[in-house]
Amino acid sequence: MKNVAILGSTGSIGRQALDVVQAHPDRFRLYGVSAHSSEDAFLALLRAAQPRRAVFSRPLLEPVPGVELSFGVRALCDLAADPQVDVVVLAISGIAALTPLLSALKAGKRVAIANKESLVCGGDLVQEALRQGGGELLPVDSEQSAIFQCLQNGRRDEVEKLILTASGGPFFRRPREALKDITPAEAVKHPTWSMGRKISLDSATLMNKGLEVIEAARLFDFPGERIEVLIHPQSVVHSMVAYRDGTVMANLSAADMRLPIQYAMTWPDRIPSPTRPLNLWEQPDLAFYQPDMDRFPALRMAYDCLKAGGGCPVVYNGANERAAELFFDGRLGFLEIEESVSYALDRFQNRPMGDLEDILLADGEARRLVVEFQNTRSKA
Ligand SMILES: NC(=O)c1ccc[n+]([C@@H]2O[C@H](COP(=O)([O-])OP(=O)(O)OC[C@H]3O[C@@H](n4cnc5c(N)ncnc54)[C@H](OP(=O)(O)O)[C@@H]3O)[C@@H](O)[C@H]2O)c1
Repeated sequence: MKNVAILGSTGSIGRQALDVVQAHPDRFRLYGVSAHSSEDAFLALLRAAQPRRAVFSRPLLEPVPGVELSFGVRALCDLAADPQVDVVVLAISGIAALTPLLSALKAGKRVAIANKESLVCGGDLVQEALRQGGGELLPVDSEQSAIFQCLQNGRRDEVEKLILTASGGPFFRRPREALKDITPAEAVKHPTWSMGRKISLDSATLMNKGLEVIEAARLFDFPGERIEVLIHPQSVVHSMVAYRDGTVMANLSAADMRLPIQYAMTWPDRIPSPTRPLNLWEQPDLAFYQPDMDRFPALRMAYDCLKAGGGCPVVYNGANERAAELFFDGRLGFLEIEESVSYALDRFQNRPMGDLEDILLADGEARRLVVEFQNTRSKA
């Protein structure tokens, strides 16, 4: 029996991770959960699922009988490193996941990681925490889970390239001029997946795929030049690995995040899952296209940041997080998201990221530069 802590339990991934835990009471026990701002949803979850521990960002108005409550970032890191916890599901969105990730890895936990921003920004610190604590990092992101599974079919020196698939988002076929007036409601309507609003927006701008290119480089210690992106609108092939003899291994399944979440928790075992089987005859038109980096420059920027190293990936992520908030508030246009990220990258003095403080400073600078960009636009 494994004790599970779900960090970010009120979100899209968090709720699906809870489904996985509850579907396998013989394997998993819900030990701890965390949330940030959704107080009512969190209280309802605590009453229904009865974990031992719960962490919220601020004191909750009501106590929940049988649940030990604590508050703030320190408590979150403490839950991630709790000696009773075997598996941490990291389902927090944004760079806020980085400190609990480092705590969990230093404490030697298995981390089923959905959050990509912490890997993009954490770079060497994550590797160092893994070495120090002897923990395990198992990808939940469907593309990274696919690559992880395809890599099990050959030796490392036999791999030619990693091929990440991308749905292309809701605007894959729209000309760039037509993207200017996209609203938040249109931007979060993902064609194949149901996800939280930030990642849905990132899929529409292709920032998500940019973050995944950097995430794959970090997770699999692979150079950016050998990580390719292919647009695949049906989201049936979740990613592929090309081997040097010309063989391409692909991972296919229904688009259901419970499957990669479960695999990250049970690996190396495969157990029955609630995901419906994939009937390929229902999917006769699987298509693949090369991405148009002129129409979606966010992807090119990610490759450039990966190459530049240092704080550039941190700025790419931090600027995008801030720009997404401003877009949802109606203060930036859709195309201004990537323009503001580019503005921040152009002004950032790149430097090595030695520790967590360096990363948080670069992240803060990126956010400030995006606000500066927004101010210049609103004055113009
Ligand atoms: N959704 C997907 O299908 C999917 C697929 C692949 C990868 N991912 C990655 O998984 C992560 C989560 O995505 P999601 O779609 O599940 O996001 P989401 O629905 O927005 O949920 C985010 C969760 O994180 C918590 N949270 C937000 N800000 C926080 C902070 N500053 N400190 C602590 N907790 C915080 C939220 O709590 P409150 O609700 O209480 O504010 C919520 O529980 C992202 O990194 C995303 O890129 C998601």
